[in-house]
This record gives sequence, C-alpha cells and structure tokens, in this order.
Amino acid sequence: MMDIQWDDKYLVGHPRIDHEHQVFVDLIRAVSIAADAVRSPDKAARLLMEVKKYAEFHFISEENIMIDANFPEYEQHKREHNYLLAKLEDELHRFRHAEIDLNHISNFMFEWFALHTTKMDLRLARFLAEKS
Ligand SMILES: [Fe+2]
Repeated sequence: MMDIQWDDKYLVGHPRIDHEHQVFVDLIRAVSIAADAVRSPDKAARLLMEVKKYAEFHFISEENIMIDANFPEYEQHKREHNYLLAKLEDELHRFRHAEIDLNHISNFMFEWFALHTTKMDLRLARFLAEKS
C-alpha cells in the first residue's frame, strides 16, 4: 500500500497554496484509509465527492492567483489541472462500475499530486516570490 501522507518536501513556499495542498493530501489519504477499512458504498461515494470538489476548488484558487499575477505559464498549468479532473472523472466512472477500487484512485491522485506540486506549483510559487 502506498504511504499517502503529507511531507514537507511538497512545500512550495506560498502559504495559501501550501495550506490547500495539505488539505488535499488529507482528503486523498482519507480515501486510501477507506479502501482498507469496511465502509459503506455511500461513505466511499461521499469521500470521492469531497476529493473531487476540493480539487476543483483548489485549481480555481490557483488559477485565480495565476491570472492576478499574469503568470506566463497559465495555459499550460491549467491544462494539467484539466487533465487531472478529466482523469478523475474517468476513474470515478470505473469505480462505480467496479472496475477499480479506492486504492487505485487514491494512488493515482497522490502520484499526480506529488509530480504536479514539485514541478508546476513550485514554478508558480517561485514566480510569485520573485514578483513580490
Ligand atoms: Fe497546480
């Protein structure tokens, strides 16, 4: 089982973004814990809805920060966000059809988070730090 938990190596140095990332990891972790415990289908569905809605909220937050700062890589960054949302929708569909389990979803989400945060979000945070 993948160890899904916050680590300071994911810090990008922007308090608001870092805070939202910590909540995001917490929610992904909750899905992975639910995968290994006996949970009702309804509870699983609610946890997945929470992760999805938070991802949507967090991406809009970041994109608003980018727009305000005239971040030149906005389009490229937004494309990665949109990719995650489309892929997550696909995963949720497959979960509802019992093709994959909760672990599959939490692992996928966490792998994407680790890669995206240490690459794309770090570039954004550095740009913001230089501007201020
Ligand atoms: Fe991002």
